[in-house]
Amino acid sequence: MNGNKTFKIDSIGSEVMKKIEVSLLNQKYPIYIGKGILELAGKKVQEIFSGNNIVIITDTNVNLLYGSILKNGLEKLGYEVKTIVMLAGEKNKNFETLSMIYKKLIKFQVTRTDMIVALGGGLVGDVAGFAAATYMRGISYVQIPTSLIAQVDSSVGGKVAINLEEGKNLVGSFYQPELVLIDPVLLETLEQRVFNDGMAEVIKYACIRDEQLFEWLFNIKNKQELDESLAEIIYRCCEIKKEIVQRDERDKSERMLLNFGHTIGHSIEKVFKYKKYTHGEAVAIGMHLISQKSEYLGLSERGIAKRIKELLIKFDLPYEIDKGYYEKISKETRNDKKREGGFLNLIVLKKIGEGFIHRIEIDDFNDFI
Ligand code: GLY
Repeated sequence: MNGNKTFKIDSIGSEVMKKIEVSLLNQKYPIYIGKGILELAGKKVQEIFSGNNIVIITDTNVNLLYGSILKNGLEKLGYEVKTIVMLAGEKNKNFETLSMIYKKLIKFQVTRTDMIVALGGGLVGDVAGFAAATYMRGISYVQIPTSLIAQVDSSVGGKVAINLEEGKNLVGSFYQPELVLIDPVLLETLEQRVFNDGMAEVIKYACIRDEQLFEWLFNIKNKQELDESLAEIIYRCCEIKKEIVQRDERDKSERMLLNFGHTIGHSIEKVFKYKKYTHGEAVAIGMHLISQKSEYLGLSERGIAKRIKELLIKFDLPYEIDKGYYEKISKETRNDKKREGGFLNLIVLKKIGEGFIHRIEIDDFNDFI
C-alpha cells in the first residue's frame, strides 16, 4: 500500500469533524470526533501511517458490530489487515489475553513498522495499548473507542494496563496512541446502563473543570437533545483531558484531578466484588459522598453535593449506598494503591467546575466517608 495521496477531511457528509491536537513533550497526536468517522478510518490512518500491515485488536461483541466496517475500510485503501479478537469482559483483561495477543502478533509476523488499531471499549483499548507498548519494545497504535467511557476518558492520555488477580490495572504503562478516532454513532448500540456509566465520567469532567458543561447537562431536555449534543459533549471532555495530560502526562499532580470520585468509587467496586456497580456507577456514588463531606468540612461551596446528586439522578446514576458499608469502604480505601507513604490525595471541589487536590493523612480518611 503506498502512492495513495493523503487528504484532509474536515466534514463527514453534513457533519463537521472536530479536531483536537494533543501536544506532549516527545509526541503530538490528533483526536478526531465526528459522527460516521469509522467509515473514514482508513483515510485518517493514511495521514499518520506509511506502512502496509495493520492488526485490529477488538473483542467478541464489538467485532460483530463494527469489525468488518473497519477492516473493509482499511483494505479498500490497500492495507493488509488481520484481526485479533479477545473475549469481552473485564475478567479477560489479564495476562492470558495478553499472551494470546503476543502469540498472534508473532504468528502474523508483525514488526515495529506495522501498526495496531484498538477497536473497542476501555478494556480493549487498555489491553491493545499495553500490547502495543510492549510488543517488540513498542509499536504504533490507534485508538477507536466504542463506549462513552472510552470516548471521553480512557482512549485519550496513553494509560494502558492489564489487571492482576490482586487488583485492577496493576501492570501498565503510559504509551500514547498516534491517533484517536471518536465516532459518537457507535454509542447507539450501547445498552442504556453502559451509556450511563460513561455519563458519570462526563459529569466528572464538568465537576472538576467546566461549570458551563455542568449547566448544559442539567438543561438537556430529552434523549434527542442529548444525542444531538453528544459530539460536542465528548469534544469538551477530550479538550479538558488533553489540557490536563499535556501539563502532567505521568499523573504526578494535575492529572490526579481525573480521579474525582474514584478513590471511594474504586473501593465500592472492590467491596461489591465488581458485581453490583459498574465503574461509572461507583464513581457517581464516590463523587456525591466525597462532596457531601467536603461541603460539611467547609472545603467546598455550600450546595454542591445536592447539585451533583440532582445531575446524577437525571442520568439514572446512583448517588448513595447503605451506611452499613462505610467502614468496609474506608478500610479498602486506606489500602488504595494511590496511597503515598501514609498520605492520600483526595480530589474535592471548591465549587462546581473547580477541582483541587486535598492531601490528607490516610488515617484521617474516615472524616471523608
Ligand atoms: N482515567 C484517568 C486518567 O487517564 O488519568
